[in-house]
Amino acid sequence: MKKIGIIGAMEEEVDQLKAKMTWVQVTTKASMEFNEGKLADRDVVVVRSGIGKVNAAICAQILVDDFGVDTIWNTGIAGSLKSEINIGDIVISTDALQHDMDATQFGYVRGQIPRMDTFSFPADETLIDLAVKCCGAVNPDIQVFRGRVVSGDQFVADAARKTDIVDTFAGYCTEMEGAAIAQAAYLNKIPYVVIRAISDKADNSATMDYPTFEKQAIRHTVNLVEEMVKTIA
Ligand code: ADE
Repeated sequence: MKKIGIIGAMEEEVDQLKAKMTWVQVTTKASMEFNEGKLADRDVVVVRSGIGKVNAAICAQILVDDFGVDTIWNTGIAGSLKSEINIGDIVISTDALQHDMDATQFGYVRGQIPRMDTFSFPADETLIDLAVKCCGAVNPDIQVFRGRVVSGDQFVADAARKTDIVDTFAGYCTEMEGAAIAQAAYLNKIPYVVIRAISDKADNSATMDYPTFEKQAIRHTVNLVEEMVKTIA
C-alpha cells in the first residue's frame, strides 16, 4: 500500500494526526481539506469528511480520484451495540453495511442495496489483523473487537431503535460514515478498514456519554492509526 487515505470523523482527530506529519500540503476540494504529507515516513492523506454517509462517500471518491490513495482507513467514534463492548473500547470492522437502506418493498432484506452483488462490504483481512495487533501494543488498557459496523444517517440514542438494529444486523457498533466509505472502497476495488472507539451505548444515555468520552476515544484512535502506519509492510 503506497498511499494511505485516512478519513477522520472529528476535527480534533485530524488535527492530532496532522501534528504528527512531517510536512503537510493542504488542498480544498468539495469544501473538505485534504492534508497530504508523510506520517512515519509513509505517504498519507488525512481528511475530515464531515458527518454522514454522503459526505463520507464524496470524500472517499476524491481520495481515490484526485490523490491516488490505494487504501482507505476510517477512524472515529461509535455507539456500542453489545453489552460487553464498553465505552473506550475499539471495534475493527470485519464488514460494514447501511442499517437505513430499506428496499423491502421489492423483496430485498433490510440493509441490502438493490442490484448490488453484496449485502455487506468486507474489510481487508490484512488491515484488520494489523489494527488488532497494533491496538494491543498501544492501547493495552482497553478491549479490541473485530465485528460488523452498521452505519446510517442517524445518531442512535433510543433503546428501541438500538434493539431493532441489533436484532436485524448483528452489528458490533453503529456510526454514520463507515459503510459509505466501505462501499466506495468496494466499487473502486481498494482495501479499507473502519476503526471506531466507543463513545456511548447507543441508547437513552448516548447523548450524555458522547462529549465526556470523546477525548479518550480520540487518544486511542490516533495512537492506533499512527502505530498502524509505522508497522504496515
Ligand atoms: N457516533 C457515536 N455514537 C453514535 C451513535 N450512538 N449513533 C450514531 N453515530 C454515533
